[in-house]
Amino acid sequence: MFIKKLKSDNNLKNLNKYYLTRSNNLSGSIKVPGDKSISQRALIVSLISSGTTIIEDILDSEDVYHTMKAIIQLGATLKVSKGYIEVKGVGLGNLKSPKSPIYMGNSGTGTRLLLGLVAGSNALVTFYGDSSLTERPMDRIIMPIEEMGARIVCSDNKKLPITVLGARAKGFTLPINYKLEIPSAQIKSAILLAALSAKGTSFITEYKKSRNYTEKMLSERGVILKNKKVNKYKNIISVNGTSLVKPKNIKVPGDPSSAAFLSVAALITKKSSIIIENVLYDKFRLDIFNILKKMGAFINIIREGKNTCKIIVKSSMLKNITIESKNSSALIDEYPILSIAASSAEGTMIMKGLGELRYKESDRFSAIVEGLHKSGADVRSFEDNIIIKGKKKIKGGCIIDAKNDHRISMSFNILSLITEEPIFVRGNKSIITSFPDFFKNLNELGADSAIYGKQKN
Ligand code: S3P
Repeated sequence: MFIKKLKSDNNLKNLNKYYLTRSNNLSGSIKVPGDKSISQRALIVSLISSGTTIIEDILDSEDVYHTMKAIIQLGATLKVSKGYIEVKGVGLGNLKSPKSPIYMGNSGTGTRLLLGLVAGSNALVTFYGDSSLTERPMDRIIMPIEEMGARIVCSDNKKLPITVLGARAKGFTLPINYKLEIPSAQIKSAILLAALSAKGTSFITEYKKSRNYTEKMLSERGVILKNKKVNKYKNIISVNGTSLVKPKNIKVPGDPSSAAFLSVAALITKKSSIIIENVLYDKFRLDIFNILKKMGAFINIIREGKNTCKIIVKSSMLKNITIESKNSSALIDEYPILSIAASSAEGTMIMKGLGELRYKESDRFSAIVEGLHKSGADVRSFEDNIIIKGKKKIKGGCIIDAKNDHRISMSFNILSLITEEPIFVRGNKSIITSFPDFFKNLNELGADSAIYGKQKN
């Protein structure tokens, strides 16, 4: 796959030297790569399916590559072809205990979902990751899966490396009744995957919506799963323990979060007009585009297939608004790029309730505030809120540390399209975890770029 080629080609060195320069007139049409959340879930659900699954258009990125290697270590057989992969699952309850620890790289989603899956099994598995993943909190997963009977060995800080002995190795998996205090699709999915092997029905109460692809995929594969909407915010998911997950082929639509980066690039540069094709049509994930529209953006979403749409975006004079914390789980991955849009918009942007940003691939709360401040934007923070006063001119001309975080790296590269002097981001290689063609796509749309140390032609 691409990741192997990228690594062997020594392209990473170039990626780390790449930066975007002041541009306008972005134009053309781009198909964004597969959705990261759906790609990772497609692999994990195929692993526990009884039979073969064909996954089309899977995201070809480093996070997905690590999850792919992990499911092979857990027993799946994979055949990779151009445009699709074939996964022969082991069936629920037949996970293999790998001979060596599983390396998850930077992938929080892959790790947390697999911790849940292994928790309900009879396998013994150790997970570890890169320096960013090793710093991320795992107690939010450990707590519920211990309650379900899994045994955990890790250091006192409850971070990776973590060894899990599945609940069924020495007994059985207990159903759980869990209240999701943190609105997180990763925690919810980990519990759902563990609950598949439980004796009886488990319940998860959520108070804020989060992405629901695990629920959808499991239901479509014969698992009995129900949603009981108590009121506007409260939803109780029930899932019955089972012994069978049926295989079902899947085609992965494009990632709305990747589309958001290209969209903001078109919005903030002058005389731009782009079309982004094949984007997952999911109102929850498209919330970023509603927010941008509220800011005055020219964005036209045209539904195409059953679950895809195309998005037309044109340069716009944006106006800042206040975003309440009720939006925070829908926008969780988009705040970094939204902050970039806000930094050149008219008026003041107030983004409330961003506490969870501190626990992403980096402390994104600080990365946004420090990065914008260094770039010359007008930014301050107060408790869990970020306040940005838009400026007509942003100086740039600085070096931003991406802190091993793809979304921070992509965001500040995009800011460099409009700053008076370019911004150089240290750590672009993190981009390969989710959007390896980020620079290529921007160049295709007409963005100007340079490579540090190379003369421009
Ligand atoms: C994801 C859930 C979100 C999101 C992450 C992907 C998923 O994390 O930030 O990029 O695929 O479940 P949380 O569940 O921690 O909010």
